[in-house]
Amino acid sequence: MQEIANTNVRVVPVGLGERSYDIVIGDGVLSQSRDLIAERHGARQCAIVCDANVARFHLETLRAVLEDLCAGVVTLEPGESTKSFYELGPLCENLLELGIERGDLVIAFGGGVVGDIGGFAASILRRGVDFVQIPTTLLSQVDSSVGGKTGINTPQGKNLIGTFYQPRLVIADTALLETLPERQFRAGYAEVAKYGLLGDADFFGWLEQNWRDVFSGGPGRIHAIEMSCKAKAAIVEADEREESLRALLNLGHTFGHALEAFAGYSDRLLHGEAISIGMAMAFEFSNELELCPGQDAQRAIRHLEACGLPTRAEQIPGGKPTPQELLTLMAQDKKVLSGVLTFILVRGIGEAFVERGVDMDKLEDFLTRKCS
Ligand code: GLY
Repeated sequence: MQEIANTNVRVVPVGLGERSYDIVIGDGVLSQSRDLIAERHGARQCAIVCDANVARFHLETLRAVLEDLCAGVVTLEPGESTKSFYELGPLCENLLELGIERGDLVIAFGGGVVGDIGGFAASILRRGVDFVQIPTTLLSQVDSSVGGKTGINTPQGKNLIGTFYQPRLVIADTALLETLPERQFRAGYAEVAKYGLLGDADFFGWLEQNWRDVFSGGPGRIHAIEMSCKAKAAIVEADEREESLRALLNLGHTFGHALEAFAGYSDRLLHGEAISIGMAMAFEFSNELELCPGQDAQRAIRHLEACGLPTRAEQIPGGKPTPQELLTLMAQDKKVLSGVLTFILVRGIGEAFVERGVDMDKLEDFLTRKCS
């Protein structure tokens, strides 16, 4: 069992040569933002991109910390629909209006939506301006703020337009999670559990014992975020542009993205909830293919359920998709290569692998049983 280090601030380095950066995790580290940025990148003028919810709770704190360095704020509407070309143009123009130049910084202060569109704007503004991620949700602290995927959605699908553009620093203040609605925290936890399920059986065992402490904000919370960031950093260091290993981070996502699309990317099904159902399906499907012991599949599902996460399509409020609907949506996934679906399957807890040759008849049989 892993020991929890006795420090309040943890620094996880992401080693990518000249694009390396730190993830600084801790209770209250927002108040150190100016120093954390200045000691690594100098005291630069910056603009904050946030959404209206984050602005209400935390903007004044960050502005006060940045003092004279803050040239201004661009506040976006909360929600997935903000990740669009329609919002990207005004965001870029507002950043230019604030006088953001090549040597300045964009600070993406918010959840995954703000991080994705804020990072994308930084990557194209003046052909690339440095940016810092200050994630405010559990999901963005353990996943979307790390690794440099930025982007927007189009009617054709999620995240189909974007760049690989690494932040210069990630500041994950765990105190910000106190204002996060419980449902959002729980959905973010699905991505924490994902790191154990895909590659670290010991961490998964630790989560089974300590998830209540993670949820209640005890010392286990920082540990869980640190372990998640370390896992993600290791994968990104090995495969920054998702040519191989990084695909493992998509455990549960082939099923999950299709379920999210079915639910209209709405509050009916949050991303992490879809990934929870998707991971349960990945374990069950792997078991049906005789790749994964049934007891491991049951253990994974039991843990997700214990935390209050959905594990079955029928738990989606308003109804589940038909097998054919799900297959059609899965075929539109951006992980389709030459018409072949990519699945992340498992040989057990902590043993995920990439599978490009799934038998479509077996998949259809499985979905028929899951969704009929
Ligand atoms: N969220 C998956 C990735 O960053 O690759």
